[in-house]
Amino acid sequence: MIRTYPKNFARFYDTIYHHLRDAVDNQYFQNEIKHTSGKVLEIGVGTGRLFLNALNQGADIYGLDISEAMLDVLYKKLQQEQHYRLSLQNIIDFTFDFKFDLVIAPFRVIMHLLDKEEQIKAIDNVYNHLNNKGRFIFDTFIPDLNQLIKGNNNQLDFEGEYDSGQKVRRFVSTYPDLINQTIQVNFHLEWEENNVLNHDDWILPLRFFFRYELEHLIERSKFKKYKIFGDYKGNELNQESKDFIIICQKQEQAMP
Ligand SMILES: C[S@@+](CC[C@H](N)C(=O)[O-])C[C@H]1O[C@@H](n2cnc3c(N)ncnc32)[C@H](O)[C@@H]1O
Repeated sequence: MIRTYPKNFARFYDTIYHHLRDAVDNQYFQNEIKHTSGKVLEIGVGTGRLFLNALNQGADIYGLDISEAMLDVLYKKLQQEQHYRLSLQNIIDFTFDFKFDLVIAPFRVIMHLLDKEEQIKAIDNVYNHLNNKGRFIFDTFIPDLNQLIKGNNNQLDFEGEYDSGQKVRRFVSTYPDLINQTIQVNFHLEWEENNVLNHDDWILPLRFFFRYELEHLIERSKFKKYKIFGDYKGNELNQESKDFIIICQKQEQAMP
């Protein structure tokens, strides 16, 4: 089951995540893109938090997303002649009639795929769209078991202004489902507009992964070469790691 990001979540995404996430991963992905000479694809491009920066730096970057609401925000920020770079597609079965040297799925895109067959299809589909030696980089959070089981109960995780003097607040509750290996995230948004306090709710299930499951998953895919890092600075996995950063490389066998 896929729940696409709804309109109000897309509307406040930039205000919330430029604040909560940019310092963690933006520089890392910009560097990886900068050091790629060919075409780049961002899967789950969202509102362009990373994409726009890269495009402005001269990258030949494309973006796809399954949420119309998220893409609508990005289309509005993008000059008309660059609109061809975006498409409404699913990671599982997207198609292009050219290939990429780098495909990225930043900020937990793969965690939106709850089912293992969908995950394999998605990873193999990326493989099919890479040039030889091309790389696929994606990330997932490392489950913090205490936090996961304890959950959050309507915790305020963001408060800021989306426009001058106009506040938006986000509250988050989380519920673990250990059998299905998912965490259900309930978002509650409140924002001031025309002297009225508006609100909206949204439920997002995310699939969490452990290290060896990720390894098995990739080893079941078409990728034969991969490495998992423990942060966005290129450090090995260690007890302090908060994210898995998975880099897979396509290696085609030379014909005998
Ligand atoms: C947390 S956001 C990350 C957005 C952007 N990459 C960033 O770093 O800010 C995850 C994005 O993945 C998209 N997404 C979720 N499932 C997808 C799928 N099956 N195919 C393509 N995009 C998907 C969502 O619509 C959302 O825009």
